[in-house]
Amino acid sequence: MKDTDCREFLDWALPRLGFRRAGFRRVRGQVCKRIARRLHALDLPDPRAYRQLLDADPGEWAKLDSFCRITISRFCRDRRVFEWLEQIALPDLASRALARDRAVLRCWSAGCGGGEEPYTLRILWDLCLASRFAALHFDIVATDAAPAMLARARRAAYQAGTLRELPKSLVADAFIRVQGEYRLRREFRAGIRFLRQDIRQRMPRGPFDLVLCRNLAFTYFDEAGQRRVLRRIARRMIAGGILLIGRNERLPTDASGFREDHATPGAYRYRGPA
Ligand SMILES: C[S@@+](CC[C@H](N)C(=O)[O-])C[C@H]1O[C@@H](n2cnc3c(N)ncnc32)[C@H](O)[C@@H]1O
Repeated sequence: MKDTDCREFLDWALPRLGFRRAGFRRVRGQVCKRIARRLHALDLPDPRAYRQLLDADPGEWAKLDSFCRITISRFCRDRRVFEWLEQIALPDLASRALARDRAVLRCWSAGCGGGEEPYTLRILWDLCLASRFAALHFDIVATDAAPAMLARARRAAYQAGTLRELPKSLVADAFIRVQGEYRLRREFRAGIRFLRQDIRQRMPRGPFDLVLCRNLAFTYFDEAGQRRVLRRIARRMIAGGILLIGRNERLPTDASGFREDHATPGAYRYRGPA
């Protein structure tokens, strides 16, 4: 399939799925490859024929939607952001929780990929913060729409490249090398609930102190979709909680209730319902 054909096809299809074309500019290759595989499986000559199929068979749209899930992730992605979480944001949230006599700090990783993001939080908490906040239990819920990503998360075995941003001392403490892979030690897998949820339809029950929704809704969803997701995330956050989106993402302009925290890119403090 020619790149220009795929681009033309996506220009037509992405808005119909509620996605922003611009979000896919740099990762279109991944989507085009999946579409090419689908054309091959269906014995269709080109994207134009696929478009006709989509017009005739509404059920095929769900397949196309799943081809548009970008699955790139890694541990400690954007290391500075995780340094800020470890040194500033998590201690602040933990202190506020303790000041209110709470026993649990709750976090949600939305679009958790193969587990890299929630496991990074787990490792940072257990190895860097838990001893300072021994009275607090750190609870993590991790959701993703892709069954393959959740299976990868549950397996918790990774290639070295995925770990390149995680400090070496933490890699040494949290992983065991087995047959060329890095297996996360059992104790770091505990206390994370992985759920299959499409964020457009379902979300875990809150309230959360910290929500990470990075490199998902605010890159790929159209403006209306972003607003819908944001409204529903807000309902699951405590006042004073932190929403962390991707470092190159921005919330929709009228994101009332959220104040940008300029200490790190992508961080917003939730003020509570207006
Ligand atoms: C680009 S990865 C980002 C992973 C991680 N948050 C990070 O920033 O490294 C996006 C993840 O969101 C998941 N995803 C895509 N669409 C989704 C949806 N509608 N609901 C829930 N998860 C979705 C994908 O399967 C993928 O694992």
